[in-house]
Amino acid sequence: MQWAEAGYPIYLLGRDTDELQRISTDLELRCGVKVWHKQFDSNEHTGHAALVREIADQAGAIEGFLIALGYMGDQSTSETDVAECEKVLGTNFVDVAVLCHACASHLESLETGWIAVLSSVAGDRGRMSNYVYGSAKGGLSVFLQGLRSRLQKSGVHVLTVKPGPVDTSMTFGMSKLPLLCPPEKVASDIVRAVAKRKDVLYTPGPWRLIMFILRSVPERLFKKTSL
Ligand SMILES: NC(=O)c1ccc[n+]([C@@H]2O[C@H](COP(=O)([O-])OP(=O)(O)OC[C@H]3O[C@@H](n4cnc5c(N)ncnc54)[C@H](OP(=O)(O)O)[C@@H]3O)[C@@H](O)[C@H]2O)c1
Repeated sequence: MQWAEAGYPIYLLGRDTDELQRISTDLELRCGVKVWHKQFDSNEHTGHAALVREIADQAGAIEGFLIALGYMGDQSTSETDVAECEKVLGTNFVDVAVLCHACASHLESLETGWIAVLSSVAGDRGRMSNYVYGSAKGGLSVFLQGLRSRLQKSGVHVLTVKPGPVDTSMTFGMSKLPLLCPPEKVASDIVRAVAKRKDVLYTPGPWRLIMFILRSVPERLFKKTSL
């Protein structure tokens, strides 16, 4: 929304075409920018390079990619249900990684642009209550560190976004989430971080210190917590 308000044309990808149509119309009316959309299921790993070329052909030069793709799943189900475990690990890590590579190849050839990817504070330390989702996000954060290193030579910027709990459909109905944050705050932090070419964004900011403290707790103590 904030990039559309600033006058940037937008290309949306997602599974729900009715929702994509609704958001596109809303953005075009409110912000007066061109918005394209296309159905996309991240579980399909072929055709990403062609998709990126198609976006560039339709929309013109691509400034950057925002990847806000994820599936929290259910920790206790993942512990016994192989399909659920694979879905959580696959969607949050494999799907995002292969998509990043398609975006990276395109921007690398242009020697400009940015890729901002939603990881999570959950990836900073394995906790008994959500280590399946957390480990996929942790793997993703490491993947993004390496990608950032690879792309810095070509001037392409990679931003890892680590939000704490955000008030979205992913957290709907969950009780007692600490420091639950509105998505608009996360969005404005991302827009600022992209402009400043930050490497890693904790949002809201206090999560940087909270996760520093949590990462510092010795394993022999941490494993006894019920976090
Ligand atoms: N909410 C939080 O507390 C929180 C905290 C830290 C990090 N994050 C991360 O922030 C990002 C955005 O999440 P959110 O909070 O906005 O939750 P969300 O509303 O559930 O967004 C997740 C998005 O991923 C899409 N998605 C899932 N599987 C897909 C697939 N196979 N193909 C295409 N799209 C798929 C969903 O599409 P559908 O609508 O079609 O399901 C949805 O648009 C995620 O990476 C999440 O892990 C969220």
